[in-house]
Amino acid sequence: MPEIKETISLKPYNTFGLEAKAKYFAIFKSVEDLEEILRDQRFKNEKKLFLGGGSNILLMNDFDGLVLKNEIKGIKIVSENSEKVVLEAGGGENWHSFVLDTIEKNLSGLENLSLIPGTVGAAPMQNIGAYGIEIKDVFVELEALNLETLEVERFDKEKCNFGYRESYFKHQGNGKYVILNVCFELSKKPIFNVSYGAIKDTLQQMGVKKLSVKAISDAVIAIRKSKLPDPAEIGNSGSFFKNPEIEKSIYESVKLQYPEIPSYPIDEKTVKVPAGWLIEQAGWKGKRIGDIGVHAKQALVLVNYGGGKGQEIADLASEIQASVLEKFGITINPEVNFIS
Ligand code: EPU
Repeated sequence: MPEIKETISLKPYNTFGLEAKAKYFAIFKSVEDLEEILRDQRFKNEKKLFLGGGSNILLMNDFDGLVLKNEIKGIKIVSENSEKVVLEAGGGENWHSFVLDTIEKNLSGLENLSLIPGTVGAAPMQNIGAYGIEIKDVFVELEALNLETLEVERFDKEKCNFGYRESYFKHQGNGKYVILNVCFELSKKPIFNVSYGAIKDTLQQMGVKKLSVKAISDAVIAIRKSKLPDPAEIGNSGSFFKNPEIEKSIYESVKLQYPEIPSYPIDEKTVKVPAGWLIEQAGWKGKRIGDIGVHAKQALVLVNYGGGKGQEIADLASEIQASVLEKFGITINPEVNFIS
């Protein structure tokens, strides 16, 4: 039976660096560990919080229940031919270490997703994405433990119902499963995606003449480091809000007043606009209120300079939402999960 700790600080386990105590805390390194804890009568009626890297949560209070940290490790080849490799990674693997491992093997598919904080098991929850790629593009299937039946279930791409920062696990499946491992199909013959403007410019600045997965990964790492705060230095959880997808007619009317508004077409009727731009225009970029604030280089990121509280960050987020709504008539919604 894994060790169960009592009344421990969750500060090291959330990248916002928020102080909150957990009534119980345990680490599981296998599905057997996890089943053993879940069968224990002591915890039957405790509420549960499953943690990966803690990089997408906002802890609102102390957690009056059992926190379970996924440390299921291991990376293995499931199948391979002359062009493709299917790799399976444990849900508790650190995402970026896994990506670096694939780059070392010169496999292509995950290079644009370098340096994203968090774990492999958390990645499908919100279909992590950056620089023109989402994990759904390379996803094959995953195994998850059904918390009610304690059966392991398989989910293919269709069952995961991926969308922009969305999946089945954030909706109907919310709170019902723990992701144990994930399979990705990667390519031995690289298919480079450098369509995202900043990558091309950075590759040029780096003097890269011949594209490689390593060069793209290095460029992505350089861009992320230049814009996004390192959680080891300033508490944060990446983009706090999702970029809103709005009706084209609304976009056109905002554009009349703000012709420089950036946009990405989604379909005939819908356009995505960067929440970071909206928040900056609403005057929030770089604003600091006590120990929390809006990052100076990327307005989509809320930060904790040290002693911030979850509630303070939630209040700031509400104020930002209200001012963006008032200025542009556009609703922005959090990407981060509020835990209470
Ligand atoms: N912008 C501003 N002001 C800001 C921030 C952005 O004007 O303070 C403008 C930029 O100039 C650019 C546009 O907004 O025209 C987009 O900015 P950026 O390329 O930085 O990307 P983003 O839309 O703000 C999204 C993801 C990031 C991901 C990047 C790169 C979401 C919610 N966020 O940010 O993901 O790294 O694209 O692909 O979709 C995350 O989810 O935690 C995350 C960091």
